[in-house]
Amino acid sequence: MKALNTKLCQLTGVEYPIIQSGMGWVANGQLAAAASNAGCLGSIGAATMSYKELADAIAYVKDHTTKPFSVNLRSDSPDVFERADLMIKEGVKVAIFALAPSEKLVKKLKDEGVVCIPSIGAVRHAEKLAGWGVDAVIVQGGEAGGHTGGIATTVLLPQIVGGVDLPVIAAGGFFDGKGLIAALSYGAVGVNMGTRFLLTAESSVPANVKAEYLKKTAGDTVVTSMIDGHPHRVLRTEFIDDLVNTPAWQGMAKALLNAFRLKGTTKMTVRDMLKQALAMKRNHDYSWMQLIMAANTPILLAKTMVDGEVEHGIMSGGQCVGVIDSVPTCDELMTEIISGAEAVLRSFQG
Ligand SMILES: Cc1cc2nc3c(=O)[nH]c(=O)nc-3n(C[C@H](O)[C@H](O)[C@H](O)COP(=O)(O)O)c2cc1C
Repeated sequence: MKALNTKLCQLTGVEYPIIQSGMGWVANGQLAAAASNAGCLGSIGAATMSYKELADAIAYVKDHTTKPFSVNLRSDSPDVFERADLMIKEGVKVAIFALAPSEKLVKKLKDEGVVCIPSIGAVRHAEKLAGWGVDAVIVQGGEAGGHTGGIATTVLLPQIVGGVDLPVIAAGGFFDGKGLIAALSYGAVGVNMGTRFLLTAESSVPANVKAEYLKKTAGDTVVTSMIDGHPHRVLRTEFIDDLVNTPAWQGMAKALLNAFRLKGTTKMTVRDMLKQALAMKRNHDYSWMQLIMAANTPILLAKTMVDGEVEHGIMSGGQCVGVIDSVPTCDELMTEIISGAEAVLRSFQG
């Protein structure tokens, strides 16, 4: 239907106005290729990948689809400009940024025709980015999985749509066709979905971890800053309850121990960890405590998302876990969402 061919489709060349979000440890080449083949914008989550892993993931996606896909970049990665060069060389069409990118980075990508979509949390951020020439922004409401703000999508989204002269993509709590139409009604040009894609057949998250997500109700997630100093929505588990109820200094000691004990999981050397930590300290003005906690997060995520250890790691997830009860293929998911959206549109016509 014409209403579903939005500015997001025109900007990125996809069939449906839906982005599979670039989730760290989850959005590998396999998921991104499957999502793109299903007609939405598949994304590689590069935040937790080394340069080589990103290069391999891009090669995998290019081998498995001819459709457009994106890379979700951490703007504060020490090698972000090399990653941008790689994307340009490999012809990646879209760059999505987890944190606000620098003007220089946007310019570099835009000069080579890469569509740039940063995530933002307030109108004033979007205004500055609009001046730098970004193509659209992602706005994530508080019900989202992962790092999140406190304002619900239904309140944040209309503020941003009304406040900036850029196409806005809605994130946080979207999982079906009705939600897609709701987002379009607010003036968004599409939705960015994380938790829903984590629970697809092509997501390589271990089956026992997917089963944990499926068990949860909408009230079984919690937002805590104890993981890395920033509000982060995760599934509620014994490990998380323990962390939340731990005094801050003990949390930091645990985080430090974890970081060194588990660094093998991330294949990071101590040198890499220090390099990344110093870049984060420089870019965010973190306290040492926040820094140690922040460096620890990818490791805790990998424990579950890669190793399947639900007891020792964290599971980022949005409140919509409570309404998701299936693990479809990306193809089945797109068919379900688009037919649901079209049914709503038809019902409007009377
Ligand atoms: C497991 C997980 C990992 C995530 N990792 C990232 C990331 O690396 N970069 C990013 O920009 N957003 C990340 N997010 C947030 C998603 O991009 C997305 O905005 C969010 O999941 C939307 O809310 P939903 O979960 O309700 O769909 C992550 C979310 C989840 C659930």
